[in-house]
Amino acid sequence: MAKGRKKSSSEFFEERLSFFFKNGASLRKICPDCVDEYNDHSVKKLISITYWLGIFCPIVNRNFREKRGWKIAYVDSMAGSGVTSTKKGNYFCGSCPGAVLHSSDIGYPFDSIYAAEIINEKADALEQRVSTIIDASKLNVYPNDIKDVSNTIANELENNTISFVVIDPEAFDGMTWTGISPLLSCKGDAMITWFESEAWRVKQAAVSNKHIGAEGLKKRFNELFGNETWMDARSPTELTDLFTKRIIEECGKTCESRVKIIKTDGGYYLMILFPGNFPNAQKLANDWKSYLENYFSSPQCREISKLLDVIAGRTKSITDFM
Ligand SMILES: C[S@@+](CC[C@H](N)C(=O)[O-])C[C@H]1O[C@@H](n2cnc3c(N)ncnc32)[C@H](O)[C@@H]1O
Repeated sequence: MAKGRKKSSSEFFEERLSFFFKNGASLRKICPDCVDEYNDHSVKKLISITYWLGIFCPIVNRNFREKRGWKIAYVDSMAGSGVTSTKKGNYFCGSCPGAVLHSSDIGYPFDSIYAAEIINEKADALEQRVSTIIDASKLNVYPNDIKDVSNTIANELENNTISFVVIDPEAFDGMTWTGISPLLSCKGDAMITWFESEAWRVKQAAVSNKHIGAEGLKKRFNELFGNETWMDARSPTELTDLFTKRIIEECGKTCESRVKIIKTDGGYYLMILFPGNFPNAQKLANDWKSYLENYFSSPQCREISKLLDVIAGRTKSITDFM
């Protein structure tokens, strides 16, 4: 987290959005036709990931790399192509290049990067893009389903490595315990995109006698939650609580913290942070949440699409729409 004067929301968003825009534009030139297609609000997810890096990197650098000679790794388990295009015609750099570039910008570059992406073309574009910003020998891109390579990646991280793992599926669909638990159990921190309302809808369908695929959904939930207690959850939040409880208890995480990402259509999903075992983990995770919530509830962020118009040069200044 930045020391000293806290940035105003305008300063914060101008700095963060410019970073994703500028790097998105240059990375897009590599494999121009291969991008991920999402919405303007996706940039808030990217901000949540890189904001934690500002807290995580200096701490692990001091306590693990400098004191013990450990390595610091970044793992992106569903990494995409490295460039996101939005319906409004904006381009940002994706989570993997964003994390790599931000960690270097703040002076704590990663020693190794592991990324999995199930679509070959995207995995190839990601590899080409990220190898222009980091020594290619540090980069490992797996064009695979994460469930088939998560153990391989986790084994690579076993010796004297501390990692930050990002699990960012497109929807609740991609989430399986087999795929994510080996990575969540690695030493270090993890962040998951959790589609809380979608998970709740699937849970309701799974317990419904009328739903034709209920048995299959039950099996999926039993796999993800480890038992049948999910059936007793009385609200989306309780369902999320059961999921995070399993991760904390079985994967050696210290605590969790959630930030709500409000989508442009009014829905939401959560970014859930699981810090590993280091002093002050809960306090730092709470700081991450409260700083981001403060910025995300600002008038600038409520108008994120218009703010992106300013950064893209389509509108002259923030005051044009505030
Ligand atoms: C939301 S996107 C990732 C975007 C990326 N985190 C970013 O912000 O730039 C999710 C990606 O995961 C990939 N994916 C979906 N299921 C997967 C799986 N089981 N294993 C690996 N990749 C998967 C999709 O093809 C998609 O590109």
